[in-house]
Amino acid sequence: MIEQKITPSLLYKYKADKRKITMLTAYDFYFARLIDECGCDLILVGDSLGTVIMGYETTVPVSVEEVIHHSRAVKKGVSRALVVGDMPFLSYQVSKEEAMRNAGRLLKEGGVNAVKLEGGAETADTVKYLTSNGVAVMGHVGLMPQRVDQLGGYKTQGKTPNSRQRVMDDALAIAESGVFALVLEGVEAGLASEITGRVKVPTIGIGAGPGCDGQVLVIYDLLNMAHSPLPKFVKIFADAGKVIKEGVNDYLSEVRNGSFPPAK
Ligand code: KIV
Repeated sequence: MIEQKITPSLLYKYKADKRKITMLTAYDFYFARLIDECGCDLILVGDSLGTVIMGYETTVPVSVEEVIHHSRAVKKGVSRALVVGDMPFLSYQVSKEEAMRNAGRLLKEGGVNAVKLEGGAETADTVKYLTSNGVAVMGHVGLMPQRVDQLGGYKTQGKTPNSRQRVMDDALAIAESGVFALVLEGVEAGLASEITGRVKVPTIGIGAGPGCDGQVLVIYDLLNMAHSPLPKFVKIFADAGKVIKEGVNDYLSEVRNGSFPPAK
């Protein structure tokens, strides 16, 4: 399936045409190529690399260097999808200038087409600064995993009137700040649909119900290759974890019983 390259403006057209947007994470060349060949629209080099690749407990320790390193590999495997690099914790909060420098590094050294950053209304000025300086930015509101300790866990946002208002205010502020798309993570499904109807930018949901303009999952989760318990909203689409274990176990037994390699 050879289709035109994905651009931010094409995503607006998808929203207008009610064509669902697909997004997955990838962290290396091989996965990125497979995912791109399947026709996925957006590939995110997520800071989830901290938990699924590096084995950290949260995404907080992830560095700009780590995202650049994985982005380089991903970018080499992709020809159609739009590649987005995640801005890790502390790479954009201190000042707009520092945010610009780090976003620029992801673009120049990592080769990504756009960056994503977590943050509500308080982050809108930083997003404006980046976009007015030529950086395509994807927003991320609702459950922001970089703030997991402040939030007290990975909990759905927008379940109480106060939380609902905060998520709505954040979404509207970020949507107005110049982002080309907005991730809604762990947002109560009705609220996510309402936001999707109110903002012009395409919304991409994760744990936010079916009413968003698109969906994203962590590739290791949907393939059952994650070590920690999976979030409730994840569906396992293929049990690659099981297939890998079977292959490794077969190899180990054949080496141990002498049947591999064969004599000839
Ligand atoms: O880091 C990540 O993988 C993400 C997605 C889950 C949206 O931010």
